[in-house]
Amino acid sequence: MPQSSLLGPLLFHIAITDLLIILSTGINMPRASASHAKLPSARTVSLVVHRPYYRSEKKFSVMLAVWGQFLDHDITATAISQKSDGSSISCCSNSGYRSPECFAVQLDKGDPFMEYNVSCIEFVRSAPAPKCYLGPREQINQVSAYIDGSVVYGGSEESARSLRTLEKGKLRMLEVEGRELLPVSENLTDGCNREVEYNKGRYCFVTGDSRANENLHLTSMHLIWARQHNLLVKKLSKVNRDWNDERLFQEARKIVAAQLQHVTYNEFLPILLGKSTMEKFELLPKKKGYFEGYNDTVDASIANSFAAAAFRFAHSIIPGLMKLLANDTSSPEYVATHKMLFDPFKLFESEYLDKTLNGAMNTTIEATDSYFTKEVCYITCKIFVLLFLIFFPS
Ligand code: HEM
Repeated sequence: MPQSSLLGPLLFHIAITDLLIILSTGINMPRASASHAKLPSARTVSLVVHRPYYRSEKKFSVMLAVWGQFLDHDITATAISQKSDGSSISCCSNSGYRSPECFAVQLDKGDPFMEYNVSCIEFVRSAPAPKCYLGPREQINQVSAYIDGSVVYGGSEESARSLRTLEKGKLRMLEVEGRELLPVSENLTDGCNREVEYNKGRYCFVTGDSRANENLHLTSMHLIWARQHNLLVKKLSKVNRDWNDERLFQEARKIVAAQLQHVTYNEFLPILLGKSTMEKFELLPKKKGYFEGYNDTVDASIANSFAAAAFRFAHSIIPGLMKLLANDTSSPEYVATHKMLFDPFKLFESEYLDKTLNGAMNTTIEATDSYFTKEVCYITCKIFVLLFLIFFPS
């Protein structure tokens, strides 16, 4: 009998109820209680456990979270289930049909969202990774797990080509009043562009990662790293006059990837893991010489538990109010975090990039705990709908 056959247990006379229990406990279904009864809805747990509670972590700024999210998008992009024609699945529509990939969250009476006439939160399961044996469902990572700049250049050759000018090694940029912005998506139904904005000539941006417009800090990171690529190309071309477009592009890409790795290992991870863990596992960049311990037999792919769960730890450190700060001496403006979601259009305004990043460097993060700002409800609820439209616009 082939190992992959789900009929296997039946042939071995395992009762169908036992099989269902196996499926609901660790194979393909959400966790159930010890008696195999359904657990309370995720939304109920969220309302009871993740209450808003504000305790800031004064030592660190929002830039820590901004880097974390940018890095996350370089190394993980879990695939979401789609219909067989590639279009998106809707779990809350009243069409009658429910895809087996739906885990929509029904809201209980008395849920604060009822006030807005919302009774169901969309939730489509991640696509299952194909496996040749019976075992827990696993997810698929759509990008490379290496810190290689795929967030800037895309996860494929094709995507990188579409972002390049194919001249002098450069990435395509949009020039607006003497400032370089990312290239724009002129697809008005991409789920990100808004009529009121494109009527003003302002569009969402196209980058190596489809999540780039999700919040203004993230879009700003995309912009400065694309600019960094073009700056490197300019410098490289001055000292290597015989390098063609391809060589300039690839060499600059290598440097960008190395810089992303350097910031991650030199600045981000020591905060996250602590000095002693960094030292114990020899994770700190060397001051001189080379690391000789690379082991190419270690599976470097991302652990699903990390990509789909653990690395989301930082959702709890996002504050509800962000500063915008033009320069060190100006007085800050404040903006509610949810207002920065899917609003890349602000980058068309002069000085907004500086204000956004300066603001992130001068806003303290929340402590890592089980409490979330109310704004994160906007993040998870509003974004579930918006992201969905962006990733699966058809
Ligand atoms: C304002 C900032 C952020 C917003 C709006 C945001 C929003 C989201 C949304 C909507 C998702 C997909 C829905 C879900 O499955 O939860 C997601 C996934 C995720 N987020 Fe965030 N996030 C933010 C910041 C961060 C930060 C700072 C980190 C880590 C340092 C992070 C790590 C992750 C991870 C690991 C995933 C899963 C990715 C995958 O499975 O491919 N996010 N985020």
